[in-house]
Amino acid sequence: MNYIAEHYNMDLALAWALRLEGKADQEKFKELGWGLRTWDLWNFNECDERFGDDWPGRIPAQLVAHTLFYFTKPGDLVFDPMAGGGVVSDVCLVFERRCQSFDLATSESRPEILYHYWEPQDGCWPTTKKPDLIFFDPPYYTKKKKEYQGKANEKTPSISSYSKEKYENFFEGFFRLAHRNVKDTTRIAFLNADWRDFQSTPALKESSDNSISMFDYHRILSETGWKMTHRIECPLSSERMSGNEVLKMQGKRILGAVGRSLIVAKRT
Ligand SMILES: C[S@@+](CC[C@H](N)C(=O)[O-])C[C@H]1O[C@@H](n2cnc3c(N)ncnc32)[C@H](O)[C@@H]1O
Repeated sequence: MNYIAEHYNMDLALAWALRLEGKADQEKFKELGWGLRTWDLWNFNECDERFGDDWPGRIPAQLVAHTLFYFTKPGDLVFDPMAGGGVVSDVCLVFERRCQSFDLATSESRPEILYHYWEPQDGCWPTTKKPDLIFFDPPYYTKKKKEYQGKANEKTPSISSYSKEKYENFFEGFFRLAHRNVKDTTRIAFLNADWRDFQSTPALKESSDNSISMFDYHRILSETGWKMTHRIECPLSSERMSGNEVLKMQGKRILGAVGRSLIVAKRT
């Protein structure tokens, strides 16, 4: 497939989309070499390099494919408000879902990702088309703050540089705005992780003042007109930690965080 894509000067994702066109979703999983999980623990050791660009916080294509499999049909419209390296649009192409993607960071290699700066208080929603699914993968609070800010600027900062209060207000505004701009049947798939200040801090000394957990996001979703239908655990791979890091953490009784959850919700 790499040879074919290179030979015809096309993206690898497009080459795969052409090869799998018209096949059933299950058949596509098989040909891509992805086991199809029929339970609510979607753990993948690494990102599949074939889909999406290298991007801070890139998510595995398999995670997106499972979300599309369970919560959309071929031809459905998917809306990706913070698209990063474009893994959602690539997987939509292969699984024959339509997709609209936005981000404050755009690049020439990703013409499908349009510029949009989210500031929900301005009430601006960048399209009139109503999606069947919103796949929302925002920054996990201040994690990767430096990397995202490098792609943003001072006037239009990434939400990862917000204070905790401003960050939570952002989600309140975003979920309300989304609620006003979608269909009755639209689902939102919201991916995030608990944020705790565990770096170099023993578990017993961690302060909870700054922490944000999936329960906070769940609360904000319920307060803004969304009802959770599914919670799926999609842990980050712990294999990324080196033996040395693990030893240091053990020595200081630091409890790291590799949990990550996908909340799927529908409009109430
Ligand atoms: C976790 S990354 C998305 C990663 C993507 N799913 C992938 O796998 O490549 C979050 C994205 O949110 C974008 N972002 C942060 N604040 C934003 C804002 N206010 N408006 C638009 N995009 C924003 C960042 O530029 C970043 O690309």
